[in-house]
Amino acid sequence: MVPPRRVQGVGVTDPEREIALAPSILAADLGHLADQVRAADRGGAAMIHVDVMDGRFVPEITMGPAITRAVREATRLPLDVHLMIVEPERHLASFAKAGASRLAVHVEVCPHLYQTLHEIKVLGCEATVALNPATPPEQVEWVLPAVSTVLVMTVEPGAGGQPFIPEMLSKVRALADRRRVLGLAFDIEVDGGIGPATAAAVVEAGATILVAGSAVFGAPEGIAAAIARLREAARAARARP
Ligand code: DX5
Ligand code: ZN
Repeated sequence: MVPPRRVQGVGVTDPEREIALAPSILAADLGHLADQVRAADRGGAAMIHVDVMDGRFVPEITMGPAITRAVREATRLPLDVHLMIVEPERHLASFAKAGASRLAVHVEVCPHLYQTLHEIKVLGCEATVALNPATPPEQVEWVLPAVSTVLVMTVEPGAGGQPFIPEMLSKVRALADRRRVLGLAFDIEVDGGIGPATAAAVVEAGATILVAGSAVFGAPEGIAAAIARLREAARAARARP
């Protein structure tokens, strides 16, 4: 297995650095998963986002370590595994073994969040804490120094193709403010309803990693063109004074 490339601190401290795009394979044609992942890689994706759902934290059941491994074998890009599952601590090791580079757990289901984040790092992965739309940013205040990334859900987790919740922009701004005041360098990742129409606003608010499912894999213009378009929208927002 080829070792994955790693990303760290993408674009947080250096305004010249690219915003990272993380296509979500939830919207991919799973019958041609490897081809679709390779197309995203060639098109300029910074990482591949893997949405894991358990039928408990969210109603749907999607993919697990087996699919994660298949993606790992198709690309050297970092795998950004988003665990929308209860008791995520029970499954961290199997996702790390399957090739995850980054593991996201939801604050809503982690009573021992420091410990869970520590376990992720011991497994050699970057630790992300994720927040549902109704979860206030204050809930992750005390773990900010312990994470690489805060993932702000910009739709209710559980399905692709939902409309972006505009109220989440002020949550992104609040986290970007805390990042500045505390002198930290965590990334802010946004997930849900991200496309050419919403990318600029989230980047302006302070997001540095953009997850996009249907806007990439469902785009009529094709995967590479969709990534280029998103990147252009993000870059234009960054360039504004
Ligand atoms: C939603 C998932 C998202 C989803 C985003 O629960 O966490 O990653 O794939 O899909 P779009 O980009 O279509 O909103
Ligand atoms: Zn996700």
